[in-house]
Amino acid sequence: MARLSDDFIREIKYRNDLGELAASYMQLKRRGRNLVGLCPFHGEKTPSFNIYTENGSFYCFGCGTGGDVITFAMKIENLDYMEAVKFLAERAGMSLPEDAYDDSLGKLRTRIYEANREAARFFYQKLVSPEGSEALSYLRQRGLADRTIRHFGLGYAPDERFALGNHLRQRGFTESELITANLVFKSRSGNSVLDRFYNRVMFPIIDVRGNVIAFGGRIMTDQKPKYLNTSDTPVFNKSNNLFSLNNAKNSKSDALILCEGYMDVISLNQAGFTNAVATLGTALTPDQAALMKRYCKEVIICYDADEAGQNATVRAIDILRRVGLIVKVISIPDGKDPDEFIRRHGDKGHAAFQNVLDNSGNDMDYRMQKLRSGYDMNTPQGKLGYLTEGVRLLCELDNPMERDIYASRLSDETDVAKSSILEQIKNGMKRRSYNRRKSDFSQIQKDISARDDRVNPQHAAYLRAATAEENLIAFLVNNPDKLTYIHEKLRPEDFTTDFNRKLFEYFSKRILNQQDPMTALASDFTSDEQSKIVRMVNAGSDMPRTVQALDEYIAVILEEKSKPTENEIRNSTQDEFTDLFSRLKDNHQ
Ligand code: UTP
Ligand code: MN
Repeated sequence: MARLSDDFIREIKYRNDLGELAASYMQLKRRGRNLVGLCPFHGEKTPSFNIYTENGSFYCFGCGTGGDVITFAMKIENLDYMEAVKFLAERAGMSLPEDAYDDSLGKLRTRIYEANREAARFFYQKLVSPEGSEALSYLRQRGLADRTIRHFGLGYAPDERFALGNHLRQRGFTESELITANLVFKSRSGNSVLDRFYNRVMFPIIDVRGNVIAFGGRIMTDQKPKYLNTSDTPVFNKSNNLFSLNNAKNSKSDALILCEGYMDVISLNQAGFTNAVATLGTALTPDQAALMKRYCKEVIICYDADEAGQNATVRAIDILRRVGLIVKVISIPDGKDPDEFIRRHGDKGHAAFQNVLDNSGNDMDYRMQKLRSGYDMNTPQGKLGYLTEGVRLLCELDNPMERDIYASRLSDETDVAKSSILEQIKNGMKRRSYNRRKSDFSQIQKDISARDDRVNPQHAAYLRAATAEENLIAFLVNNPDKLTYIHEKLRPEDFTTDFNRKLFEYFSKRILNQQDPMTALASDFTSDEQSKIVRMVNAGSDMPRTVQALDEYIAVILEEKSKPTENEIRNSTQDEFTDLFSRLKDNHQ
């Protein structure tokens, strides 16, 4: 692996200020020396994302993600290490050293992008060849103009089992690359390698940077499955991508229209609504909501008119609201989905859909209406049920004006005094926020401590030692001038936990070589390790770091080191035990 030089990485970091880069994706406020904001990597309403300007690192106390400016670019732009370095270099007008591409995962990803692009080209060629005539007329029959077909790069996977595989192998792709790209798969017997897609109309899925990352393929008959999609690969994860976001991000609108299917999005585009996107065969995920939040302020949900679509709408409202998006809901007046609606209105599709858009309701109207339709409002029980559930719904609103408006409506609809409704809401909110905070908090604690255990499996068993070791490492990184002082009293062998020993050696070596300790964080550690290190190094950064504190960490580390472990005691012979015992005693003198 061609390692980028420390100087080069330092230059990249110097020219790409983390705070400034982050500010182009999110809002940040200054708090003391640090910057804080709503974490872009998970949905939250109170800011727990911190940038430590002193050492150019970040940590989110909500999801436990941390790292440096390269890690930030990797996560926010969904890049691997080398791609992120390249992205930051370009952003700063720097050029990359010639041999900088020799990174194995990055290379593989590049190969998959290339294979996918070539596959898309192949499918398109087949669609416009005689072999694809049936598929082409299928698409035309569904109302798509040739221009639209070209714009979306639609294609046809021929009715053969080796066509794509053979074609791509001729172009120099290896079997293993094609299997990893999920374009082909090994048959059960293991004797042959078959195309994943055959006799289907193909929909390429393209990310915001223009890479073909996956495909959806539709069968032209009533057989199942109707759509077959690429499984997750090193370049594709269906729960954090959206179909046609590459088009939607360039639309002038502040809003995105969220649909269920590929065809809905394509029909909407053809009718002039380029801000439509769709999930990829899954229910909307929090990651997708966070992704949308980067490109818009408002999401208009336009799911199918059937019951499944309506239930999915209620769930989507919740997920979108949680990341702070304004949410509206459209109900398709006639037709099963937006695609059918637009086709039904032919030439007037644009005007008809615009009219539906103009009449879209906000999400609270939608939820209240849906709730109300479930109760018989002519009976006291019905009214009470509606009132109870309605109050529960209003408790979720953060905006007091919004609460007030819907409390008035609830009061009108049930003839219950508004003041008593508001009172109930107040009580409900208190309970709710306490419960949510409690459950959020314990979940986060669980996740983070599971991660810490992965990174340093000895942490829990040697808590006292590990804590002192971490404090000492934080001290060292923040006070590199104390290296000699520390090394006079402490050797790596004195560390009890292996991970912390490795860290101590790593940072010591860098400081000895006069390198900034944190520069190569993103290339030398995994994502989990980085999160742990950043938290360790920045913990208590507002507390004074005195030499007395340092001496105490050293004392604890030495004391813990000489303690025999339970296992040692259990397994030791009497002689050994005496020896262990005297070692213990020595230490306490
Ligand atoms: P729908 O069943 O609503 O299909 O699935 P559709 O979009 O109306 O498709 P057409 O109009 O009949 O062609 C909605 C979406 O769910 C995913 C696809 O992304 C589809 O666009 N899906 C559906 C699958 O991934 N697999 C399936 O078998 C069915
Ligand atoms: Mn449809």
